[in-house]
Amino acid sequence: MKVSASFLSSKNIPVDLKKLDNTDVDYIHVDIMDGKFVKNKTMPFSEMRNIYKYTSKRLEVHLMVEDPTEYIKNYAELNTEYIIIHAEIEDPIKYLEMIKSYSIKCGISIKPNTPVSSLVPFLPYIDEVLVMSVEPGEGGQAFIPESEERIKEIRDLLNEYKINAIINVDGGVTNETVSKCRLCDMVVAGSYIVKSEDFQERITSLR
Ligand code: DX5
Ligand code: ZN
Repeated sequence: MKVSASFLSSKNIPVDLKKLDNTDVDYIHVDIMDGKFVKNKTMPFSEMRNIYKYTSKRLEVHLMVEDPTEYIKNYAELNTEYIIIHAEIEDPIKYLEMIKSYSIKCGISIKPNTPVSSLVPFLPYIDEVLVMSVEPGEGGQAFIPESEERIKEIRDLLNEYKINAIINVDGGVTNETVSKCRLCDMVVAGSYIVKSEDFQERITSLR
């Protein structure tokens, strides 16, 4: 299992990013919120861009925003492997194509109450499905148990349409809930890692 570490709940981002750099974590998951698509708002790009000083890991950028245009342009400049937008925004295909135009892999994320079938139009474009296992907006929430069934539905959908995209799950992932993510290729973990003493031990427990 691949592991992507979210620093949304970090109390000291530079220190925690440096600690993560000394682990075998696969990606740094960068949560971006605009105060519109979700209530909370994360720091502007002018500050966020500095994360490159603290990590050499590849980034997976999760855009919880209504209009991804500027964010895609900005985050394409960093060491970014994936940019993920939400299926619930207007005209996701326009943004999936924009991400591709920067030669960056693209992902689509779906909230817990969005029907899995709504992913169908996006399947030809995507490299990743990010299944939200909590309502997006904040770290430290509990994993929604029904996510396990949704992950299976999404795996079946990808198989049916012969789409070679990874499945990642985001929210409330711990050593206990990871057993519900067996059909995924990757999990995002935030507070489970950054609120612990031994980051590597936590990461290893998820694999
Ligand atoms: C939630 C974010 C998640 C979250 C993960 O809106 O997209 O990436 O920070 O944090 P934990 O693992 O604490 O749920
Ligand atoms: Zn996220």
